[in-house]
This record gives sequence, structure tokens and C-alpha cells, in this order.
Amino acid sequence: MARIAVIPGDGAGIEVIDAALPLLEQLNQVHGLGLSFERFEFGAERYLKTGEALPPGQIDIFRRDFDAILFGAVGDPRVKGQVHAREILLGLRFGLDLYVNFRPCRLLADRLSPLKGKGRKEIDFVVFRENTEGQYNGLGGVFKKGTPDELAISEEINTRKGVERVIRAAFAWAKRNQKTRVAMADKNNAIPAHELWLRTFKEVAAEYPEIEAKHFYVDNLAMQLVLQPESFQVIVTTNLFGDILTDIGAGLTGGLGLAASANLNPDSTPLFEPVHGSAPDIAGKGIVNPFAALLTSALMLRELGHEAPAAKLESAVQQAVEQGQCTRDVGGTLSTQEAVAAVAKLMNDAR
Ligand code: NAD
Ligand code: IPM
Ligand code: MN
Repeated sequence: MARIAVIPGDGAGIEVIDAALPLLEQLNQVHGLGLSFERFEFGAERYLKTGEALPPGQIDIFRRDFDAILFGAVGDPRVKGQVHAREILLGLRFGLDLYVNFRPCRLLADRLSPLKGKGRKEIDFVVFRENTEGQYNGLGGVFKKGTPDELAISEEINTRKGVERVIRAAFAWAKRNQKTRVAMADKNNAIPAHELWLRTFKEVAAEYPEIEAKHFYVDNLAMQLVLQPESFQVIVTTNLFGDILTDIGAGLTGGLGLAASANLNPDSTPLFEPVHGSAPDIAGKGIVNPFAALLTSALMLRELGHEAPAAKLESAVQQAVEQGQCTRDVGGTLSTQEAVAAVAKLMNDAR
């Protein structure tokens, strides 16, 4: 029995979770996975009504009583500064100490590659984004706001423990998955504190002589990702750089409508979420791509130990994309619901 907390969030997040859940329920029945889903309406609506993003003690409840969290997306133009989104999403990542943000970037169909001459064989890498430190901690402040002397400070944190554990996770994953290269991106030429990343990377790499470990400045890595994506298998980097590089990764693999992620710590309750946000520009029209949410659900099933249904779901999504049975952002004409139905049918046909 595994208890899963479902947080749809806002906008497109709600749409993709509403579309994905029935398919997950069906998989649960057919494969006897013993999953139970409990829904939590945390998002802009609740925040605007009550002034509260997450109830007190909620993070402890998730840590203690749940096996996973399935998350849609948060973000609402009505909330100034996206305070609720930070409190919910960053609150969960930090509060549950989910130090790995694992983001696979795999091209599912050659036609979706934006790069001349680069197809499925060339675009297949994963990013280990540090997820609890960096520039995301909220430390800092504003002084003399609104005057010509205004000062805005945001601190960046890098701890030995934080840097080492995500680098270790990247190497361990590479080894487990027969990968031969790990790349690390920092900016130690301009940000001296990043020397900690370089030193730690070299030390951990020494324990994996069979894996080629290569350091990049992040600006160069961003360019190389576009020029020769085939040279990357595993990338490990800071929180903010990982955020940006994984949107490049999404761009290389068909866009945010297909990008999945898992926030992990083996000793905590993992959180699974599509990389995309609440997509206010297209939300509410029934055209949001639900496949990122489905691929995210597959990551969750795999993490919960259900490899077979996870692989089946991934392969059905891939077939749907290949056959053009998908939403318009990836070249189809289907609605959100129809795209999920197409995947469900492909899975049933495969049985
Ligand atoms: P976004 O990911 O919401 O959208 C970026 C672009 O990608 C938009 O053009 C959108 O239409 C498209 N897109 C995103 N998801 C899609 C999908 N499933 N199918 C088809 N197209 C899709 O990013 P944004 O516009 O920069 O941010 C909007 C809001 O979402 C902001 O409030 C932001 O803070 C928030 N956000 C939340 C998360 C999250 O909850 N994890 C992630 C990113 C952004
Ligand atoms: C993501 C998002 C978030 C991030 C935002 C919404 C805080 O862009 O999950 O990639 O920067 O981590
Ligand atoms: Mn992002």
C-alpha cells in the first residue's frame, strides 16, 4: 500500500493532473499496485481566500504519512510575486529536503528535434539539479526601495554537504545506468564560491575511475548542449543553472509539454512534477499537453518500485507522440483529455 498526495496546484497544473489521474487509477487497478490517492487543493485559489499557502504542519504530515507527492504546477497572475508558489513548491522541496531534482531530457521522436541532424540517438541525457540551496533560499533583502539608491541583495548558498550529496547522486545514477560520462557545470571563474563545486566534483569523480568526469563553465555547457547534445549523458549542476539548463533540455526534446521531473531524497517523501508551470497563456482551453504529467507519473511509479507499468506508460506516451496522437504543441490536434485517452488505448492494446 502506498499513499500518494496529489497537489494539482494552479492553471495547467490542475488540467494535466485531472487528465492523468484516471489513467493512473486504471493502472493501479489493472496491475494491483495498491496505490491510494488523496487530493490537496493547495494553490492560488486557497491562498487568495485564506492568506495561507500550506497549512501549518503539512510538510511533516507529508514526510511522515505519505510515500510520494504528485504535483501539477503552481503560479497565478493574480498573486503578486508568486508568494504562494514559492511557499508551496520551494517549501516542499526544502522542507522535505529533496536535494536531487532529476530531470531526464530524452527526445521521443526525431521530428521534434529543433537541431539539424540531431535526432533520438543524439539527444538523451539527464540533469541532476541541486534542489535545496543555491540562489533559491530567499536570504537577502531590499533597502531604500523605490529610491535611486535602492539595493537588492540575494545570497547564494553552497554547502559541502549539499554539493557533495547531489554530485554523489549523479555519479551513482550514472554507474547504475551504465553511463560513462558525467559533466558538471558551475561558474567558478566569476563566482569564487563555486570552487567548492569543482573541488568536490573532482574528489567524488576520483571514486569512479571508470566514468569520465568533465567540468564546464555553465555558459559553455549551455552552448555545447545545443551544438553537440550527444556528448552529454549526465549533467550535475546548481539549483539556478539546473533550472535554466533543463528548460534548454525541454527545448531540445519537444518543449515543456513533454518534460518530466522527480524531486528526490532516499530518506524523505519524493515529489514528482512536470517541469512546466501553470501556463497561463494556454490554460483553460483544453489544449495543455498532459504528457509531461504522464511521464512524471511514470517516474513516480518507477521510484515506488513498479518498473513494468512505468516502462509501459513511457512507451505508450512515446508511441502516441510518434503517431501524432498528441496535443498541438508537439504537432498533433488532440485535446488534453483525448491525448490521455490515446495513451490509455495504446496501453490497453499492448496487453
Ligand atoms: P510555463 O511553463 O507555465 O510556460 C512556458 C511556455 O510553455 C508557455 O508558452 C506555455 O504555454 C508552454 N507550456 C508549458 N506547459 C505546457 C504544456 N503542458 N503543454 C503545452 N505548452 C506548455 O512557464 P511561465 O510562463 O514562465 O510561467 C507561468 C507560471 O508558472 C509562473 O507563475 C511561474 O512562476 C510558474 N511556474 C511554475 C512551475 C512549477 O510549478 N513547477 C514551473 C515553471 C513555472
Ligand atoms: C521549475 C520552476 C521553479 C524553479 C519556479 C516556479 C520556482 O521554474 O520547477 O523549474 O525555478 O525551480
Ligand atoms: Mn523552471
